[in-house]
Amino acid sequence: MSALTFIEENKDRFLDELLELLKIPSVSADSKFSADVAKAAEFLKKKFEDLDTTVEICETEGHPIVYAEKIIDPSLPTVLVYGHYDVQPPDPLDLWDSPPFEPVIKDERIYARGSADDKGQVYMHVKAYEALLKTDTLPCNLKFMIEGEEEVGSDNLGVFVKENREKLKADVIVISDTHIISNETPSITVGLRGLSYLEVEVTGPNRDLHSGTYGGAVGNPINILCQMIASLQDENGKIAIPGFYDKVEELTSEYRDNMAEAPFDLNEFKSLLDIDEEKGEEGFSTIERTGIRPTLDVNGIWGGYTGEGAKTVLPSKAYAKISMRLVPHQVSDEITEMFTEHFKKIAPKSVNVKITPHHGGEPVVIPTDSIGYKAAERAMEETWGKTPIPTREGGSIPIVALFQKELGLDSILMGFGLQEDAIHSPNESYGLFNYFRGIETISHFYRFFADMSK
Ligand code: BES
Ligand code: ZN
Repeated sequence: MSALTFIEENKDRFLDELLELLKIPSVSADSKFSADVAKAAEFLKKKFEDLDTTVEICETEGHPIVYAEKIIDPSLPTVLVYGHYDVQPPDPLDLWDSPPFEPVIKDERIYARGSADDKGQVYMHVKAYEALLKTDTLPCNLKFMIEGEEEVGSDNLGVFVKENREKLKADVIVISDTHIISNETPSITVGLRGLSYLEVEVTGPNRDLHSGTYGGAVGNPINILCQMIASLQDENGKIAIPGFYDKVEELTSEYRDNMAEAPFDLNEFKSLLDIDEEKGEEGFSTIERTGIRPTLDVNGIWGGYTGEGAKTVLPSKAYAKISMRLVPHQVSDEITEMFTEHFKKIAPKSVNVKITPHHGGEPVVIPTDSIGYKAAERAMEETWGKTPIPTREGGSIPIVALFQKELGLDSILMGFGLQEDAIHSPNESYGLFNYFRGIETISHFYRFFADMSK
């Protein structure tokens, strides 16, 4: 039997298994869910054991890493598959149409937190592997490294990679944790942005005050925080932190013209988000604003009274979580430092500012002339009948830059998600088409990569 027939005949089971995995609330950011994160790792371990595959759960200072390998012949090429089984918090829960960890299938889509990011996508690799193994057509050695901390910055995976260079030796890394342009237009991601994430705390008076007795005479930390944040961007959408753009890669007009050729419908973009107008840095298109330009966004802001009704209070403290997405050749630590210095400098004397850096990650660009890229291109051509378009995406996968640095390996970012999957949002979903198309395409990828490496 061919691997494709095997996939066809086992579709229902492949789907049921994914639904089981999606029922486990493996939220890495919230310690309340630690036992569930461990349970998701156990689930994957069991699936590898069922396939007679060497597998271990590698404990870290945080959540564990599932590592599995099948070496069929040391002289054959080795593919290292990376993915994550942790998910983003499902909040706000009241905006979900069905509970985030009770997957439902509606309109040919699987609705659940993690369906697209990344359980559905990483599980495609496990099933492609099963299909090849069970039909005796596995063409290469495979290593799987599936972590539980991608959504919180992959710090412990970084340590694991540095300590296990030999174990992780491979000819290529493949990751399915990104998007394609549409189900009609396949694409391969060749760029991801980096990240610098921090939390700021602005303190005014030493206690919450009566806003009548003191209002007007004492600086309100929330008002001040808002003014400070507003000043970080000018009217053209440029970030006003000195030095912020110094290292930003300027792309040639030829590169930008090429980018503009990828299909993109601005009206559809706006209508899917219910916005009347897009907004961003002057002089750049929407695709460029997310693909090749850096940003600064407030992810959350709080302080004072937010309960029911009204309370007249001039708060003592205000907080915000701020992230900056970075592009080549910006460096996360340098940007964090620039932000910190600038933010302290613009604070009026009436408040104190404390800044706590969170995780970061470096931007990456993936070359398109490697065997790995060509094999992914051919695999997509095989299933879609169309050559995939290289795209740069705005999200981040911090470990990709570290793989380049520590293992000397580029990652092939062959994801199958769609923007409408709404990852990180309420009602995240993943198309059944994408799940099964992914499994097929991945099985071709392993085969082509082995062939083309000869
Ligand atoms: N799957 C995403 C990365 C992604 C998103 C790639 C969109 C391409 C397009 C990944 O799981 C993710 O969300 N990463 C975080 C990383 C962060 C927490 C360090 C991100 O980008 O916010
Ligand atoms: Zn992801």
